Amino acid sequence: MQDFDFYNPTRIVFGKERLGELDSLIPADARVLVLFGGGSVKRTGTLDKVLAGLGERTVFQFGGIEPNPHFETLMKAVALVREEKIDFLLAVGGGSVMDGTKFVAAAACFEGDEASLLRHGFASMPVERALPLGTVVTLPATGSEMNCGGVISHEGGKWPFTCPLLYPAFSFLDPTLTYSLPPRQVANGIVDAFVHVAEQYVTYPANARVQDRSAEGILRTLIEIGPETLAKPEDYEARANLVWAATSALNGYIGAGVPQDWSTHMIGHELTALFGIDHGQSLAVVLPSLWHLRKAQKGEKLLQYAERVWDITDGTADERIEKAISRTRAFFESLGVKTRLSGYGVKAEQIDDVVAALQAHGMVALSEHGDMTPDDCRQVLEDAFAEPK
Ligand code: NZQ
Ligand code: ZN
Repeated sequence: MQDFDFYNPTRIVFGKERLGELDSLIPADARVLVLFGGGSVKRTGTLDKVLAGLGERTVFQFGGIEPNPHFETLMKAVALVREEKIDFLLAVGGGSVMDGTKFVAAAACFEGDEASLLRHGFASMPVERALPLGTVVTLPATGSEMNCGGVISHEGGKWPFTCPLLYPAFSFLDPTLTYSLPPRQVANGIVDAFVHVAEQYVTYPANARVQDRSAEGILRTLIEIGPETLAKPEDYEARANLVWAATSALNGYIGAGVPQDWSTHMIGHELTALFGIDHGQSLAVVLPSLWHLRKAQKGEKLLQYAERVWDITDGTADERIEKAISRTRAFFESLGVKTRLSGYGVKAEQIDDVVAALQAHGMVALSEHGDMTPDDCRQVLEDAFAEPK
């Protein structure tokens, strides 16, 4: 096992109808900004419940944070925060709203060029202060509710950031607030959580048994409850398990002390930025092909994955690995998420644009070994493009 620090200060408030407890978690004299997306929280009544939970506090609202949130949109919220001397942020929405809120929390306290905060990748943002924030989750997927990272769109790219000051102070996970999600977003969330686990697990062995068994438990849970919760969106138990699986997939616990490989995410971000493919969909396209082409580097963990997640024990090592990859692809497809790039209207010649974007964004040494070149990414995308003949 590798050395690690594990720190996660986010309080999780899990369960139905608990938004009344907001009152006890935010200072009584706080000036609160509630941030949300394109309007789903108004239609579903979630915003009203949040406002009721905030009681007599001074509350401002900022709506219109779009999926894959844009820097320019968020800077309008930063201006409002500064103008109104807001001192607590409350994100009500999915990953885009939560990530956007984290960015606002840091940018509002930063005195330099706020866009520069997006240029530090997986190294911490150089900020000394950020506003405290909480979240009310309406879409189980990203894990943003219990981690300190986010992804912001700017100048045609998607820029990841991280900073320990940006852990939410609390996150409300009420599975019933997610019942209104369209099936496409539920399926995207299942795939996103699955791939978060995969990128912290399918690397090379580190003899990290708790992390491995926990990762396998989350993957098996997603395989079990994914179809159930899609078929019965208002089955509380199935949805509750999806919500906690998604949070557990990216709150740092399974990733402590193990090698990680975020290549699928980095390639997927370019697909979203260039072609508008949803985050979850982009991952479903990349992961199976990436595994197929990186069998040499990931062989041992792919075999472990085949046996412990899919119960595949027959055949040669290569047959077992290929079977596990096919089962993964078939699982994503069974949720209604297409796994071929051509299925999203992308043309073969546009693969060049993706490779150029990866290069422009410095994504030239990806993977757990740092040995994945733009040319390797091209091969992954070519493999992912169309059905094999
Ligand atoms: O904007 P509204 O009207 O709220 O509609 C949203 C949006 O259109 C809708 N929605 C959310 N909750 C709903 C609902 N519709 C009906 N009922 C509800 N209860 O869903 C749509 C998608 O929302 P979005 O927040 O964009 O989706 P998601 O949660 O998948 O977040 C994706 C973003 O998170 C980033 C992605 O890159 C992407 O920008 N990620 C953040 C991570 C993190 N912070 O750790 C890790 C992830 O890998 C990911 O990269
Ligand atoms: Zn993701």
